[in-house]
Amino acid sequence: MDLESRPPRQSHLHSPVTIRGVTLKNRIMVSPMCMYGAGIDGLATEFHIVHLGRFALGGAGLVMVEATAVEERGRISNGDLGLWSDEQIEPLARVARSISSLGGVAAIQLAHAGRKAAISAPWNGMSPLTAEDAMRGDAPWPVIGPTATPAGSGWQTPRQLTIAEIPGVIQRWADATRRAMDAGFDVVELHAAHGYLIHSFLSPISNTRTDEYGGSWQNRLRFPLELVDAVRRSMPDEKALMYRTSSVDGVEGGLSIDDTVRLAEALVEHGVDVVDTSSGGVTAERSLDTRVRRGFAFHAGFSREIKQRTRALTATVGLVIDAEQAEALVREGFADIIAVGREMLNDPNWAHHTQRVLEGANYDAWRQESGWWLDKREAVIDRLLAKGETPLSLFD
Ligand SMILES: Cc1cc2nc3c(=O)[nH]c(=O)nc-3n(C[C@H](O)[C@H](O)[C@H](O)COP(=O)(O)O)c2cc1C
Repeated sequence: MDLESRPPRQSHLHSPVTIRGVTLKNRIMVSPMCMYGAGIDGLATEFHIVHLGRFALGGAGLVMVEATAVEERGRISNGDLGLWSDEQIEPLARVARSISSLGGVAAIQLAHAGRKAAISAPWNGMSPLTAEDAMRGDAPWPVIGPTATPAGSGWQTPRQLTIAEIPGVIQRWADATRRAMDAGFDVVELHAAHGYLIHSFLSPISNTRTDEYGGSWQNRLRFPLELVDAVRRSMPDEKALMYRTSSVDGVEGGLSIDDTVRLAEALVEHGVDVVDTSSGGVTAERSLDTRVRRGFAFHAGFSREIKQRTRALTATVGLVIDAEQAEALVREGFADIIAVGREMLNDPNWAHHTQRVLEGANYDAWRQESGWWLDKREAVIDRLLAKGETPLSLFD
């Protein structure tokens, strides 16, 4: 039976969801992915407009801009986007307009890399910047953290933030949120995973402070919650707030899923809508023994646990590459939103393609500029295949 004659079905993956005043047309989110392509000034470029707009054109409900630094010293690399100054608003507003004009909801991940700042791009080693990197214009800068302990051997020793400095750092997140709102984003995600600043305050592995921001669970939770409060106050009520966690540290004595469940419940109390479940990164040591095994949908179990044990909506991410797999994750209650990273780089039309697979849909959801032609082309291809012709018939 060809796609035309199949009755349309409504899939779980392509059902809408409303979070506060924000409605996603489907459950598919483009996961934040650093492109290391901004200038030293952290400005979004034509590349970001096309790159991110293309995912909206491909049918994704939620398109998340990569980790965007709330202050200059919080950049992961010299190529990070930033929202630490008003000049950075308009270039990102163009990105947001590109996404929303093409049917997606525009989201931005705000970030501060903390003690894991100042590294090189993946193709230059993804490691702490050195004097040699500085020679080719990629210079390091001093980094900060909850404690003066480096993320790993060969990494910069961060300067420990004083208590007096903490409100100023939190204010930067609030200011960046206000700028994200001015730029037209409907969703903000706090990057609180992968060993970056927020995560490094929560984890006992990276936070060994002895003041009110370290030690007990309540003390380690203080920085994340004060920050969430400040961000929530900087957004209108109808905009949605997401929080990316490292659900487990994967290190002896580190955060466990039970900790993250406790965290998620507290986050909901403080106005977070969606907990986006990633893992790892608290130290820079890459231990294959302790990190979460990279199977298909490798964070889905964490997402399900948080969904079952708290009031949070959840997103899962990690090797979701297939329509039926994504559909089952939503249908079986593993997650409300499916974040897709590298598969989107492989196929920016992934969302559209999954709808065809799951719902037997034609090209109606596509922009007619391409959908009209693909519809006609499909009828021709179907006819040829029915007659036994293949693309290789010419060579028989
Ligand atoms: C090029 C690249 C850049 C990434 N940058 C970010 C980022 O800015 N923020 C973040 O939270 N995760 C980042 N990640 C992790 C992805 O969002 C995602 O969690 C991970 O790639 C696993 O999902 P996937 O298997 O669908 O790619 C990045 C991953 C890649 C491949």
